[in-house]
Amino acid sequence: MSVTPLLLLGRGTDPDSERGVECPGELPPASDPRLVERAETAKRALGTDVFVLGHHYQRDEVIAFADVTGDSFRLAQQAAARPEAPYVVFCGVHFMAESADILTGPDQQVVLPDLAAGCSMADMANATQVDECWDALADAGVADVTVPVSYMNSSAAIKAFTGRHDGTICTSSNARRALEWALGGERGGEKVLFLPDQHLGRNTAVLELGMTLADCVVYDPRKPSGGLTREQLHDARMILWKGHCSVHGRFTVDAVADVRRRVPGVRVLAHPECTYDVVTAADEIGSTESIIRIVADAPAGAAFAVGTELNLVQRLAAQHPDKTVVFLDKTVCYCSTMNRIDLPHLVRSLESLAAGTVTNRIVVEPTTAALARKALEQMLALP
Ligand code: 13P
Ligand code: SF4
Repeated sequence: MSVTPLLLLGRGTDPDSERGVECPGELPPASDPRLVERAETAKRALGTDVFVLGHHYQRDEVIAFADVTGDSFRLAQQAAARPEAPYVVFCGVHFMAESADILTGPDQQVVLPDLAAGCSMADMANATQVDECWDALADAGVADVTVPVSYMNSSAAIKAFTGRHDGTICTSSNARRALEWALGGERGGEKVLFLPDQHLGRNTAVLELGMTLADCVVYDPRKPSGGLTREQLHDARMILWKGHCSVHGRFTVDAVADVRRRVPGVRVLAHPECTYDVVTAADEIGSTESIIRIVADAPAGAAFAVGTELNLVQRLAAQHPDKTVVFLDKTVCYCSTMNRIDLPHLVRSLESLAAGTVTNRIVVEPTTAALARKALEQMLALP
């Protein structure tokens, strides 16, 4: 691997240079007019030593530097696609960078440009709570017939729990196949423990697998035994963790009705992290990849109201000036943690790497990583 020595980029206005510090790891000011040039220079200097992945919810200024963009499934597939790159810069959130670390080789280092880029949904399930839940299922006599299916949007510890109990990870683009696998002949479960997003679990089970709402119960980790009786656990087919996305949870049925009044002929596209009421009021449900495809494939003049993160919706509107693409909500609704990855953070990551210093490396502890990898590989092998 080749590492370019210290880059002397923008030293004149770099706050570090003013203090006489040699390390280029300082966060550049957002007002620096040379940020684009600095990112380009550092990325060019790194060449094939760096592989930059960008989730669809990232800002345009960051997406401009991504070697690959995608939803969380595509990015998980792509993470392992450049084994020769010693550095993987993950422009997304913490759980995605953890998955990238798990799926990349031992000599590759994964960097998250801002360690504060977490996910409020992933934080709604921790390992202790999930172990307690499994104990509650065992006490009720249903753990043996339950298969954990965990959304990608979960910590490495939750993915390890899933691997330990022979379950699978899923994303919004393969949740149906994951449930079919868990409940089908091969794995043969009678029930699924779906975590941490109750909405993706319910929407997939009811709208794609034909279950009823009564087949689903919600396990609340703040209540003893999740707030569920033995009978409820026995009768349920889907045990949904009480978690949600604070961004997608904001879309309402009123907003759907309102946009239908405002935009003639509009088709409403909703991400499956939206509530059941919203997705049933919408015209189509789709992961970020399928929302992008639906808009791209539509004829000129088509109109869409999109219920997903605002960076993606704005980009779709800009990429398709011949179509009408509006945001489903009237109020601004960025994912604040996705948005933490901005150009100054990316510049710092790239310049630090070019100088041979790895800042904000994400490392998953090996035992956790091995079990989490098992659950992730099960997802990648889903039919
Ligand atoms: P997808 O990339 O699976 O559509 O995920 C949406 C999301 O909320 C990522 O955090
Ligand atoms: Fe988490 Fe929701 Fe943001 Fe995705 S959009 S990172 S699920 S808070």
